[in-house]
Amino acid sequence: MNHTPARQPCTSPRLRPIITAAEIERRVAELGGQICNDYAGCDDLVIIAVMRGAIFFLVDLLRQLDRPLRLDIVHAASYRGAATTGSVQMLQPVTIDIRGSDVLVIDDILDTGLTLRRVLDHLAACRPRTLRTCVLLSKNVPRQAEVTADYIGFEIADQFVVGYGLDYNDRYRHLPYIAAVETDDAG
Ligand code: IMP
Ligand code: MG
Repeated sequence: MNHTPARQPCTSPRLRPIITAAEIERRVAELGGQICNDYAGCDDLVIIAVMRGAIFFLVDLLRQLDRPLRLDIVHAASYRGAATTGSVQMLQPVTIDIRGSDVLVIDDILDTGLTLRRVLDHLAACRPRTLRTCVLLSKNVPRQAEVTADYIGFEIADQFVVGYGLDYNDRYRHLPYIAAVETDDAG
């Protein structure tokens, strides 16, 4: 039966897979090993994930971190469709005490840098001992805010991508791989 669910767009954008589930799995394991090494002497590691895009990356990376840690999430949002709005809202701030802790922020993708900058400023105000960042993807574009990632899964070209937590108008987050969206308005 050709049943079209309500609110489903009439035409779906073309998706072009660019990073496979196996490649993600391998790279996340490598990052996990590197993070465990780098934080070996640290007794209060706090992982803070930026919702909602980091959900898949967070869960898979956590499984690789065989060491004590604390976990929290923050929720920041900036995107509408495939175009950034430029302003970043902190919808959910940090809820645990991170003063004096070694904080590692986990995010899905570094694009303009505005989101991570906003999150880092928010967390820095809570006076952690160290504050570092780990992103699955880093887009090869000029940053609009001063921010660098300490750990990067994959460098990608300037294209709009979905899957493994990343969405396009709230769709495609569930894909186990990363795909480029090929539409007229996807940059
Ligand atoms: P930035 O503030 O421009 O660095 O963008 C960061 C946030 O925008 C990410 O955490 C994502 O949620 C979203 N974003 C940026 N680029 C993409 C993309 O290509 N696909 C899906 N979401 C994206
Ligand atoms: Mg995000």
